[in-house]
Amino acid sequence: MVCPWWLCYSFDNPLRRLFHDPERLLHPYVKPGMTVVDLGCGMGYFTIGLARLTGPEGRVIAVDLQQKMLDALGRRSRRAGVAERIVLHRCRKASLGIEDSADFALAFWMAHEVPDKPRFFGEILALLKPQGRLLLVEPKLHVTRKSLERTVAVCRETGFHVLEEPPVALSRAYLLGRG
Ligand SMILES: C[S@@+](CC[C@H](N)C(=O)[O-])C[C@H]1O[C@@H](n2cnc3c(N)ncnc32)[C@H](O)[C@@H]1O
Repeated sequence: MVCPWWLCYSFDNPLRRLFHDPERLLHPYVKPGMTVVDLGCGMGYFTIGLARLTGPEGRVIAVDLQQKMLDALGRRSRRAGVAERIVLHRCRKASLGIEDSADFALAFWMAHEVPDKPRFFGEILALLKPQGRLLLVEPKLHVTRKSLERTVAVCRETGFHVLEEPPVALSRAYLLGRG
């Protein structure tokens, strides 16, 4: 099931910074000038931090199925002064439809909402540069270890390999590289 827009406020709020500080969490992977993709960006909890990390020379492609999420992110990014670094991209269920190549992709608390995982991870693999990385993070609360292991198995079959399992609060996380 796709997360409804109104539910976003339950986890996309200032309190979350106490355990998920976007810049602190993502700075090991994102450098100035990079092109990064925020998959299932929602209202942009991580997108603004990603835009600060990529800097004015970088770009964040913020991808979501729901226009309401992208509209909210557009308003937030203008208030934060980083709107010109962010491309809002509404995808379809059957395809991400991203033409650019990226250095880094983030899939935070969203992969369990994607029904066709082989297609999804295949598209991410295709858009990443050879040294590109995918950070896959799933919530412990409603994604079981077994279910996430099945997802990671799909990643491996697609052509990813696991580089690290970084600690992320309330979550299980995998840093994945190509081939
Ligand atoms: C639980 S929210 C997480 C939002 C954000 N990543 C965060 O951690 O705050 C999941 C988001 O993924 C989006 N989503 C679900 N399936 C998707 C798909 N196949 N492609 C792109 N976005 C999707 C939903 O619309 C929703 O905005």
